[in-house]
Amino acid sequence: MIFYFSGTGNSQWVAKTLAQKLNDQAQDIVGLNQIPSLEQEQQVGLVFPIYAWGVPESMMQFAGKLGKTTAFSFGICTCGADAGLAMKKLSKIYHLDSSYSIAMPNNYIIGSEIDDDDTIVRKLSAARAELETIAAEIGQKKCVYRVQEGKYPALKSNAINMGFNKFARTTKPFYTLDTCNGCGTCEKNCPAGAITLVNGRPVWKQQCYQCMRCIHDCPQTAIQYGKETAGRKRYHLKDYL
Ligand SMILES: Cc1cc2nc3c(=O)[nH]c(=O)nc-3n(C[C@H](O)[C@H](O)[C@H](O)COP(=O)(O)O)c2cc1C
Ligand code: SF4
Ligand code: SF4
Repeated sequence: MIFYFSGTGNSQWVAKTLAQKLNDQAQDIVGLNQIPSLEQEQQVGLVFPIYAWGVPESMMQFAGKLGKTTAFSFGICTCGADAGLAMKKLSKIYHLDSSYSIAMPNNYIIGSEIDDDDTIVRKLSAARAELETIAAEIGQKKCVYRVQEGKYPALKSNAINMGFNKFARTTKPFYTLDTCNGCGTCEKNCPAGAITLVNGRPVWKQQCYQCMRCIHDCPQTAIQYGKETAGRKRYHLKDYL
């Protein structure tokens, strides 16, 4: 079984592509009512995006509740560039025989423009090849640590990640343009349950993962975050597959 968390589809695509190659199943951890038993599993995988050189809170909490297993266990993070020490930190919560990072299109629209089309196509092509290799290594139960940690990984995964979780996940800067038509997509799809429609317009609570799904997936491009996101292109993985 391959468990995944995904904001904008990159990690979901990685989990599903790998599951197909391994003849396994990919399961979204959002909305899982109970922690599944791992008794019959040959392999257990955790797939998720990197947030500020760390593991998303949702995946950390899930991994902490997942039972021990004798199955081969692996983690794969998807990131725009580098993952810092995230996989090492996760492996302290849940034993990982293998850890990988895969460079995927950057969805952090609050921080910068998303990648240009050429970069997206190049990253997806490299990711396909890497998944082929990873599937073969998992099939052989080979223990591998192939993670792009980047420069100053300890600083990024400790101090900067702590700052992100403490301060940057605020929902205060979210607002909608008048093009919002009250369709409810953002409320229905928010993995944190942080959005409620009030008088036909979204209102944000505090428990946001900063997954960026609401911003990228609003059919009216009506969701903005402070001054950062206006005019920036939204990311839709399906346009590149
Ligand atoms: C809040 C946030 C923080 C991010 N931090 C990093 C980072 O530290 N390093 C990095 O390489 N990419 C970072 N990214 C980019 C994502 O990890 C990357 O685009 C990922 O593939 C998104 O996966 P998803 O589509 O499954 O959500 C960040 C994205 C978000 C939304
Ligand atoms: S998805 Fe966009 S248009 Fe639909 S309710 Fe949310 S903000 Fe409004
Ligand atoms: S409010 Fe938006 S960014 Fe925050 S968790 Fe929900 S969908 Fe993701």
